[in-house]
Amino acid sequence: MKNKLKFLVVVGARPNFIKIAPLFEEFKKYKSIKPILVHTGQHYDFEMSQVFFDGLRIPKPNYNLGVGSGSHGVQTAKTMLKLEPVVLKEKPDIIVVVGDVNSTIAAALVAKKLNIPLAHIEAGMRSYDSNMPEEINRILTDQISDFLFVTSESDKKNLLREGIDSKKIFIVGNIMTDTLLKMINKATGKILEKLSLKKNNYAFLTIHRAENTNKKEILKGILEAISRISERIPIVFPIHPRTKKNVEEFGIETILKSQGLITIPPVSYIDSIGLMKNAIFVLTDSGGIQHETAMLGVPCLTLRKNTEWSITIKSGSNRLIGVSKVKIIKAVFDVIGRKKKRIKTIKYWDGKTSQRIVRLLYKKIN
Ligand code: UD1
Repeated sequence: MKNKLKFLVVVGARPNFIKIAPLFEEFKKYKSIKPILVHTGQHYDFEMSQVFFDGLRIPKPNYNLGVGSGSHGVQTAKTMLKLEPVVLKEKPDIIVVVGDVNSTIAAALVAKKLNIPLAHIEAGMRSYDSNMPEEINRILTDQISDFLFVTSESDKKNLLREGIDSKKIFIVGNIMTDTLLKMINKATGKILEKLSLKKNNYAFLTIHRAENTNKKEILKGILEAISRISERIPIVFPIHPRTKKNVEEFGIETILKSQGLITIPPVSYIDSIGLMKNAIFVLTDSGGIQHETAMLGVPCLTLRKNTEWSITIKSGSNRLIGVSKVKIIKAVFDVIGRKKKRIKTIKYWDGKTSQRIVRLLYKKIN
């Protein structure tokens, strides 16, 4: 047995930070694990990055690659260029990547080109929409991973269909529920007070996906629907930098001026959970929020035609409503006034996912 096992974990974007927080908590229980954290710098604004490190007590990264914004090619290539020397220097026993962002695929490629074992947390998710950059990142990362940690039985089936050896696949549950269950009681009503909102009398909105924000007609249609709805019920809208930039570029800022629409900068994890938990419903195109609402028991209307979180549709919390203005308005008016349903619990989403992952990897690479 070696002295210390080096686990090199690579993160880059907001949802990644939420996923690795419980992993680093778990590492503390193993004296013979030496974790090394690399932040690619894909997300760099304080509200998109540091606020999560502070709020979730994630250790300061050992390396920050400062990759920043750019086209997909530039972002992926820059990450690879800057990560390779770090890996060569550190010689980790394993590289761990999470989710489906550009930093994930870039780090996966670096790992395997250097013949280092690769673990992918949240493997097997599929929207079956190859126009989404995340879908390409998922498929390719899974193809070259040695340990694939999936959230559910159906994600395992997705991988088996793509010819991945079942011995590499482990159903461990959803790591974001570890974070959610730990933090849920800390999510107070403070943010509601600050925004003068009343419990169960407002909706929570997020939009950031490239396919919903990069085309003027689509973004304008969504925002016009939101503006109509906000005449009936207040809507809180923490605006993602991509969405903000595009609203300005398209010259459609006036739609955001609608009276009931409360547009605010991106919020911390705790405030985001606090706002979701007390909302009457949530409108989103985010992946994470689809399953967080499933855990919180809040109805979620997803502004997409497909989802990699099909389990949330089966469990009854989530509905895909697409992005047509008329359909969004209809779906929302449908949900207002309905009683919140009891949502089925999901197997393995029990707050113990990071425990299972670290135990398993420790055993396998020791
Ligand atoms: C990325 C992920 C997406 C994830 C999302 C969460 C990919 C392909 N996409 O999308 O899966 O759901 O993060 O937020 O990796 N920007 C800032 N400040 C920042 C970060 C970004 O201003 O801190 C701006 C940049 O100008 C950039 C734009 O936002 O051009 C988009 O950022 P990028 O990281 O490319 O993708 P996201 O849309 O955030």
